[in-house]
Amino acid sequence: MLHNSLTFGRGVAGFYGKMKGGSRMKTLGKVLAVWLVLAVPATLFVGCNVAVDPGTGGGDGGGGTPMDPAEFTSADGLKGGAFYDKFYADGTGFDQTQASFETVSAAGDFFRCKQCHGWDHLGNMGAYINRAPKATRPNVSGVNLAEHVGEEEAQELFETIKTGHGAPRRMLDADLSTYDPEDPTTTADGDMMPDFSEIFSDEEIWNIVKYLKDELLDTTQLYDITTDGTYPDGTRTFSNIGKDGDAANGDSIYAAKCAGCHGADGVGGSFPVVDDGVELSIGAFARDKPYELWHKVKFGNPGSVMTAQGVDSLSDMKDLLKALADSDAYPDADAVQ
Ligand code: HEC
Ligand code: HEC
Repeated sequence: MLHNSLTFGRGVAGFYGKMKGGSRMKTLGKVLAVWLVLAVPATLFVGCNVAVDPGTGGGDGGGGTPMDPAEFTSADGLKGGAFYDKFYADGTGFDQTQASFETVSAAGDFFRCKQCHGWDHLGNMGAYINRAPKATRPNVSGVNLAEHVGEEEAQELFETIKTGHGAPRRMLDADLSTYDPEDPTTTADGDMMPDFSEIFSDEEIWNIVKYLKDELLDTTQLYDITTDGTYPDGTRTFSNIGKDGDAANGDSIYAAKCAGCHGADGVGGSFPVVDDGVELSIGAFARDKPYELWHKVKFGNPGSVMTAQGVDSLSDMKDLLKALADSDAYPDADAVQ
C-alpha cells in the first residue's frame, strides 16, 4: 500500500512537472484546437435546445461537509478575501450609500480585518509583530485566527463575526478620535472588534466565512518566518521565500500576469507601488511582505485596477514568490536609480 501511494505521488508530481515544460503544453494546445473545431459548431447547432446550467454541472453533491449551511456552500471566498482586506473600497460590491460608509471609510484601519488580524491571520505573533499602533490604527490583536478558524464550524464563525457570539463588540458610534497609543486608557474601544452586524449583509459575512474556511493558507507553505521579541517591538525575518517553487515558471507567470502593469523586472511600470510614500518594487515587496503579496495576487488590491489575478494553485504561488525572491532579476526600486 505504502509503495503504491508513493508511486502515485511521484506520478502526479511528474505530470505537473511536464505541464510546466513546453512540449506537453503544446500537445494540450493541439488537443484543445481540435476540440474547438469539432465541438464548438456542434454546440452552436444544438445550443438553442440544450440549456446548460453551470450550477448543476459539477455533480459534486454540493461540496463541503453535510453540516454546512446552504448560505456557506454558495458563498464567494474570493469576494470574502477582498472584504478581509478593505471591504469599503470601490469595486468590492460593498454598498457605499449605506449609513455606515462614512464612519468606516474615515477610520479604515479600525475596521479592516487585516489590520487587527494580519495578512497571515497570526495577529501580533506573526508578520505584524512590529506593526505598532498609531492615532489612526489600533493594536494588532493577540488572537491566532488561523488556528481559531480551523476549530469552529461555519455557523459559529458567522455569528462570531456578525454579533460577537458573546464577546463584546464596538458599536459604530464609538468615538475613535481620542485614540492615543501613548495613553492606554484611551485604546480599549479602538482595539475592540467592531460590531459588523451594523455594517455587513448576511451574504457578505458568509463570503468572509467562506474565505476564512476555504481559502486560508498555512503560510509556512510559502516561506519560513522567524520572530524575535514581543509585539509591538518584535522583529520578523523571512527565509525560504517560495520554498521549493520553480523560479522559471514563476518568471513566466510574472511575465504573463504582472509585467504589463508593473514592468518587466517589477520596478516602475505603469502602476508603481508606493508604500508610505516610498516606491517599492514588486521584488522588494515580495521579500518584505510575502504574505501580503499572496493576498493581493489571489484576491486583488481593492480600490485599484488590480483584480484577483487567477494565480490560484499553491504551486503557482510558490513559483511566483520563488522568482520574486531573486533580487538580481527583480531588484529593489532604489537599486536601479
Ligand atoms: C479593531 C480590531 C479588529 C478588527 C477590525 C477585526 N477584529 Fe476580529 N477580533 C479582534 C479582537 C481583539 C478579537 C478577540 C476578542 C474577541 O473575540 O472579540 C477578535 C476576534 C475575532 C474572531 C474570534 C476569534 C476567537 O478566538 O474568538 C474572529 C473569527 C474574528 N475576530 C474575525 C474578524 C473578521 C473576519 C474581521 C473583519 C470583518 C475582524 N475580525 C475585524 C479585533 C478585531
Ligand atoms: C491591470 C494592472 C495590474 C496587474 C495585471 C497587476 N497589478 Fe499589481 N497593482 C496594480 C495597481 C494599480 C496597484 C496599486 C498601486 C498603488 O497605488 O500602490 C497594484 C498593487 C500591487 C501590489 C502592492 C499592493 C499594496 O498593498 O500596495 C503588489 C504586491 C502587486 N500589485 C503585485 C502584483 C503581481 C505579483 C501581479 C501579477 C500576478 C500584479 N500585481 C498584477 C495593477 C496591476
